[in-house]
Amino acid sequence: MAPAENDNNTAREDHGDRTMHLGRTTLSKFLIDQLRNTPARNDLAALLVDVAAAIKAISAMVARGALGGSHDALTSHNTSGEVQKRLDVTTNDAILRYCEWGGQLAGMASEEMETAYAIPAEFTRGRYLLVFDPLDGSSNLDTNVSVGTIFSVLAHSGDHTAVDEDFLKTGVTQVAAGYAIYGPATMLVLTVGHGTHAFTLDREIGNFILTHPDLKVPEDTSEFAINASNERFWEPPVQRYVDECKQGTSGIRARDFNMRWIASMVAEVHRILMRGGVFMYPRDTKMPLRAGRLRLLYEANPMAMLIEQAGGAASTGRGRLLEVPPTELHQRVPVVLGSRNEIERIERYHQEYDSGSDKPYSSPLFNDRSLYRPEARS
Ligand code: F6P
Repeated sequence: MAPAENDNNTAREDHGDRTMHLGRTTLSKFLIDQLRNTPARNDLAALLVDVAAAIKAISAMVARGALGGSHDALTSHNTSGEVQKRLDVTTNDAILRYCEWGGQLAGMASEEMETAYAIPAEFTRGRYLLVFDPLDGSSNLDTNVSVGTIFSVLAHSGDHTAVDEDFLKTGVTQVAAGYAIYGPATMLVLTVGHGTHAFTLDREIGNFILTHPDLKVPEDTSEFAINASNERFWEPPVQRYVDECKQGTSGIRARDFNMRWIASMVAEVHRILMRGGVFMYPRDTKMPLRAGRLRLLYEANPMAMLIEQAGGAASTGRGRLLEVPPTELHQRVPVVLGSRNEIERIERYHQEYDSGSDKPYSSPLFNDRSLYRPEARS
């Protein structure tokens, strides 16, 4: 006997629920498609799948919170002199273990390790290098704020085990870059040079599913992020930019801006990829010997590639981040990235300051109550 119409619908819905994930794009499917014309595509895909496996393991560690017993600070310090959390060390180990065996890597370098990690002799050496910050923003763990893992893949030239110098390649040469954000959902945001794409971890089936293909950073924004407690240490062009944003509708920008600061770069960049904005950790005089706060290889370069691939811009304030020549593994750099038109404006303010041509802005004729507001039209 044919089932009643209602039974039929119920059967269809049940079936639909159970197979809802079928037909969705998993990370592996995506990589096969994206890397179709890339040399050594199988190696690169296999490496990124291993990185994703490490990220799933880290996501589980982070999600245990205080129950995992790994949030406490150790007595050790990382290469930058910051106190390490137990999780900084275990997540670093997780990436080493998940990625060392596959035969795709010649070496790895991490913010948590003094020097490059050579692939152990028992494993085959490959043609890529992996650079990573295993747990960026880990000082936020106690407050349960989103943290992340940032990574970058470089090509290795030669067949020797990689040493520090092999990692000193400009950001434009990155083969792939990405980050994981451990927030309410765990997401993987990735570029292999053809746009920036975001995946959400489906914990039930254990796969990253493509949920945000081809992200685009809007060219304009009314949101910026900076640690404003450092204001007195900033250079004049940064002070000028932030002052103008804060003046809102009564200043030359003629619109109100929102200010944000999560103190977790991954979370800030994620917000910018989702809805635009500006993130700045500029050069400052707080620690005059440091060029900036953030690391070129582990933080700035991968984020710059992701932002550029999404149509945004990434700069030191005085030039394209991806063109900064690295001179040492743990090098720091000023970082200004996000919505293109704002980044261009900030670069212009640096140029005008360096050439002395921003003088009119400090004259009473051009202050924000003047009829001669030089940028009132922009
Ligand atoms: O480099 C680590 C980091 O936590 C970034 O994720 C973040 O943007 C920055 O440092 C926060 O700096 P601050 O402690 O000055 O707020």
